[in-house]
Amino acid sequence: MQHEGLNTNTIMGNKNSRIQGFYQLDPQQRLERVGAFDGLNTDDLHRLRGGQGVLSLERADKMIENVVGTFELPLGIATNFQINGHDKLIPMVVEEPSIVAGASYAARLARAGGGFRTSSTAPIMIGQVQLVHVPAPSFAQQLILEQKSRLLERANAQSRSLVQLGGGAQELEVHLFADSPMGAMLVVHLIVDCRDAMGANAINSMCEAIAPMLEEITGGRAYLRILSNLTDRRLARARVVVPPHALKREDMRGEDVIEGILWAYAFAAVDPYRATTHNKGIMNGIDPVLIATGNDWRAVEAGAHAYAARSGRYTSLSTWERDAQGNLVGTLELPLAVGIVGGATKVHPAAQTALKLLDVRSANELAEICACAGLASNLAALRALACEGIQQGHMGLHSRQIALAAGAQEAEIDEIARRMVAERQIKPARAAELLAEMRQVASVG
Ligand code: MEV
Repeated sequence: MQHEGLNTNTIMGNKNSRIQGFYQLDPQQRLERVGAFDGLNTDDLHRLRGGQGVLSLERADKMIENVVGTFELPLGIATNFQINGHDKLIPMVVEEPSIVAGASYAARLARAGGGFRTSSTAPIMIGQVQLVHVPAPSFAQQLILEQKSRLLERANAQSRSLVQLGGGAQELEVHLFADSPMGAMLVVHLIVDCRDAMGANAINSMCEAIAPMLEEITGGRAYLRILSNLTDRRLARARVVVPPHALKREDMRGEDVIEGILWAYAFAAVDPYRATTHNKGIMNGIDPVLIATGNDWRAVEAGAHAYAARSGRYTSLSTWERDAQGNLVGTLELPLAVGIVGGATKVHPAAQTALKLLDVRSANELAEICACAGLASNLAALRALACEGIQQGHMGLHSRQIALAAGAQEAEIDEIARRMVAERQIKPARAAELLAEMRQVASVG
């Protein structure tokens, strides 16, 4: 892994995430395997298991406002990931069936080509200060730049700890919008290295701190003082090589599967309607890791989609090609502003354990893992779409949720799901019929 401006190699360890038959175990057995993978202690496993006040009401009440309770979601573990030569188990919190299975499956395919490789830029974010009613905006632009050191000093006085860690406000730019619906405005960009923090609070405080100085320098008025979620200088990248033999199916040569995946990618590359769904498939892998680790997934979503439109036309965030050896090769690059210190990452007990399981030592490393999960989810979706179609696998996995929604109890769910899959009729109405049938038989018997 390469971090531009960081030069650290942080993904460590010598573990095996290729846990065969993991999906066939029950949750308790899976938890034990996860514990064995990483030497998590009983407390950690208790936090991953959830429930029983892991996130206490008292703690939740300190996290947001007007709290009346907590809301639980399933936490699954994606297996098989190999990232820069090191095995990882990836915690994913999500409500949609087939995401964890898809990511694990694609990670297994990726192993055949040596797993995922990653890199990232330094964790640079942008804070914006909007200046309006500035007399002589072009002149003012230069005045601001002349005061750069003083402004950076004021900004850095807001976050001494960030500066001590080697981060902080590093640069300042001034953009002139000569025309807007309200007239001309200057927008100052404060360029901040956030190190292992997501950085929103530090940046917003810095922007607020320099705003009065900017007003003084320009004679204008500062309105907005806030970070930008288009974090296009805080990028994470993942790439993968999948040999044709890994993609081979009973009914299809690996080469033909690759051809289908490349056509699926081509569709997303040219058509924004398809690109949106394609990118949603990428975010299917990323958001669950963000949620599991207590990160702000709305921020990452906003940045990702804006980045996908950076050319002026919304397109695919990933690329898929065939290399000279006939392998499928995929890449993903996107803005990924995540933190491993502060906010919910520190406060939510399960998020802490998720980070421990991931064994990440920097925000960059977490961002790179997210990129791998995104690329894996994308690969899983494209492969299914190019072959059997998405519904077969998805509905199979969805069938248990449908049975549950129809009112089936623990002991009835698997049987109803099995029968719906066998009949290829995975529908709420059929689940209700089967449930009624089963209960009638049980009451007669
Ligand atoms: C569903 O959650 C995600 C997909 O629609 C992604 C895609 O179409 O690439 C399957």
